[in-house]
Amino acid sequence: MTLEGVETLDAGVVPRVARAREPRVVRVALAGCGVVGGELLRILKHGEARLAARNGLRFEVVRVLARTAGRPRPDELPEGVLTTDLDAFLAAEAELVVEAIGGVDPAVRIARTALAAGRRVVTANKALVAAHGPELAALARQSGTRIDFEGAVAGGVPIVRALRDSLPLTGVRSIRGVLNGTSNYVLTRLAEGRSYADALARAQAAGFAEADPSRDVSGEDAADKIRILAWLAFGVAPERLPVRRRGIAPGADRLAADAAALRGVVRLVAECAQTAEGVVASVEPVVVGPGSELGRTRNEDNAVLVESDWNGRVCLAGPGAGGGPTASALLADMVRGAQRQPPPTQRRGVQDRRPHRWAVSVEAGPGAAEALRRALDRAGVPVAGEPLRGGSLARTAPVAWPRVDLATRALTAEGRRPLVSRVER
Ligand SMILES: NC(=O)c1ccc[n+]([C@@H]2O[C@H](COP(=O)([O-])OP(=O)(O)OC[C@H]3O[C@@H](n4cnc5c(N)ncnc54)[C@H](OP(=O)(O)O)[C@@H]3O)[C@@H](O)[C@H]2O)c1
Repeated sequence: MTLEGVETLDAGVVPRVARAREPRVVRVALAGCGVVGGELLRILKHGEARLAARNGLRFEVVRVLARTAGRPRPDELPEGVLTTDLDAFLAAEAELVVEAIGGVDPAVRIARTALAAGRRVVTANKALVAAHGPELAALARQSGTRIDFEGAVAGGVPIVRALRDSLPLTGVRSIRGVLNGTSNYVLTRLAEGRSYADALARAQAAGFAEADPSRDVSGEDAADKIRILAWLAFGVAPERLPVRRRGIAPGADRLAADAAALRGVVRLVAECAQTAEGVVASVEPVVVGPGSELGRTRNEDNAVLVESDWNGRVCLAGPGAGGGPTASALLADMVRGAQRQPPPTQRRGVQDRRPHRWAVSVEAGPGAAEALRRALDRAGVPVAGEPLRGGSLARTAPVAWPRVDLATRALTAEGRRPLVSRVER
């Protein structure tokens, strides 16, 4: 058997003999015709011959759902398929429904209706999967179909596939990574001396910031993604996993300056881990070494590090946001044949009480050093080394988050505007 023959994605679905003849036509209903949906239409159109030759498939887009009539659409949108009527969309005769509208409603209605009717669903929507993943996977199983969501986490980095297929068998201990392209792009620009507003505007212009970037910079987007990865790796229901979450805003400029003072760079790191007490998760600014895997992850790129008992450390990195990589992930799922579903689950996660080193800073000004020292002292946070920047930036010895949280609450109550990064260097 040739290598070419072995590696085709859908080798199990399309008989080889059929490939030599006409490609099999797959009727597709696509919800969403924005950055991702529009790019998918372009790939399907311009890659049609290659898909037929390599995979023996031709995707025929029979209906496209959008919200606004009269908005400019890509040239590749087939004529007469666009609708703004949800019921007309749901009634389309399609074996595959691709969801690229985002948000939970009406995405969940689209997914439930399609799966209940035995249709396959592919989505790039992390909010949907984090809120309803196990329910939708169970519905897919009952209906003898499947839901795939590679594009929902880390764009073009195939971490979902890896966690659904091979990595769980290696005894995963922890997953951590840079999972939000917008925040990482902003942090990269800040380290080059640009302002926060300028960096965010550039991310939006490039099309990888969410419509409302507050979900990106607050860490909510990354929290959805780490919940999904924790589900796949540890079987914890994503909606039942508490995630300690702090984003990069407000205060991104100071977080970057704090990291520089510690000779590191700041990254918004999402993490989940199996501990003796249970599965824990966090999304927070972390000071990492500039040459570390996460420190080297720049712009909108994502990186995911998986540590496991028998496989050591695996790092997957690549384009984490943008229409192209996400549409490419959708396409891979569309082509993919039947594979196993993630496990059903009722497990809960627990609060993370593991000790870490932290950098705590307050706004410089009269009494700042004394206020910081007092708050840390009262909360029982052990300080390591001399305070930096005139006493407005302190490093701690390893200590669990609740104590640091106590100190930051006291500082906030005093109007000191504290910021905290975890320190890994
Ligand atoms: N952009 C990225 O880099 C990226 C990366 C990874 C994952 N994703 C995910 O991909 C999905 C789509 O993102 P996007 O960036 O393509 O968003 P987008 O550019 O805002 O496009 C959303 C599309 O969905 C349509 N839509 C939104 N709400 C609707 C509703 N209630 N009813 C009918 N149609 C509706 C919009 O219609 P109109 O065109 O008429 O407004 C638009 O065509 C999201 O789940 C997002 O999280 C995006």
